[in-house]
Amino acid sequence: MRTAVTTQSLFDAAQAIRAGKLVSFPTETVYGLGADATNDRAVARIYEAKGRPSFNPLIAHIASMAQARTIGVFDERAEKLASAFWPGALSIIVPIKEGASISSLVTAGLDSIALRMPAPSPVRDLIAQAGVPIAAPSANKSGRISPTLASHVEEDLGDACAYILDGGACEAGVESTIIDCASDKLQILRPGPVTAEMIATHCPELATEKAVVNNSTPNAPGQLSSHYAPQKPVRLDVTTPQEGDITIGFGPSSYKVDFTLSETGDVIEAAANLFAVLHQADKTEGTTIAIAPIDKTGIGAAIHDRLMRAAADR
Ligand code: TXA
Ligand code: MG
Repeated sequence: MRTAVTTQSLFDAAQAIRAGKLVSFPTETVYGLGADATNDRAVARIYEAKGRPSFNPLIAHIASMAQARTIGVFDERAEKLASAFWPGALSIIVPIKEGASISSLVTAGLDSIALRMPAPSPVRDLIAQAGVPIAAPSANKSGRISPTLASHVEEDLGDACAYILDGGACEAGVESTIIDCASDKLQILRPGPVTAEMIATHCPELATEKAVVNNSTPNAPGQLSSHYAPQKPVRLDVTTPQEGDITIGFGPSSYKVDFTLSETGDVIEAAANLFAVLHQADKTEGTTIAIAPIDKTGIGAAIHDRLMRAAADR
């Protein structure tokens, strides 16, 4: 059931989580498909609903630093990142604490766990009221476009959710940055709204490396090179559109575009519009989605990462 975010709907949704059901909730990045991270059967429902390969671990969403410390081991780097960027769009991978009450379906059997404290306070209220960490991937079928509107979730996973909490459009529009603090080398495993530049500014002592996406290691995020995929094929860096193209522009364009990520060429606006525009383009008549070149600075790196996957061979 799709419902506005109210005190009552948050209460009902928290009860549903406690009862092992699935709830979709809006975050500052994308909509999540949440379940009680301590309950194997509840987490199994996420995998079932998404049709997701079970080796892909999930992010556990927490409401407070105290709750995070009951699950993960925070070294100095992780502490610094959490205090600089939480609540916010950064998922921090830390070693899992011995005896932590977390379903092994969340970690996919790894000895590390991705933790994130989402920015919107209603979501943190939901987690706090549920009284358990909430495991949540993006609320889309596996390999499909991530949802940035409640209607996207309803179309893809409406039947699977006890509640879809409708908080309108997600602000950032691309999934959280994932940073690995469980190994010696601090690595950004997935680019996102918290950019390497922002990390360098807030924590100058933390030099990050960007992971090389390696498709042969199933436990690195985004390992499936074809991901975030519209049904239609996607072509990137298009400067001359062809017959049958559904065109998506970025900034001023020399040809007439069907959609634009940002008329002024603003990467933040483009990130916020990205998945909604891909959803719309996919429903438009035409053969191929043709996307103009995008600026790769700042969050543009995350847009580029998602578009490369959307355009990858299937
Ligand atoms: O913005 C987001 O992060 C959204 C919202 C709902 O919070 N969630 C999201 O989850 O994007 P998902 O499942 O679509 O992506 C989680 C990524 C996966 O690529 C997974 O491989 C990686 O996180 N991941 C989770 N735990 C990991 C771990 N222990 N080690 C390495 N990668 C991990
Ligand atoms: Mg996803």
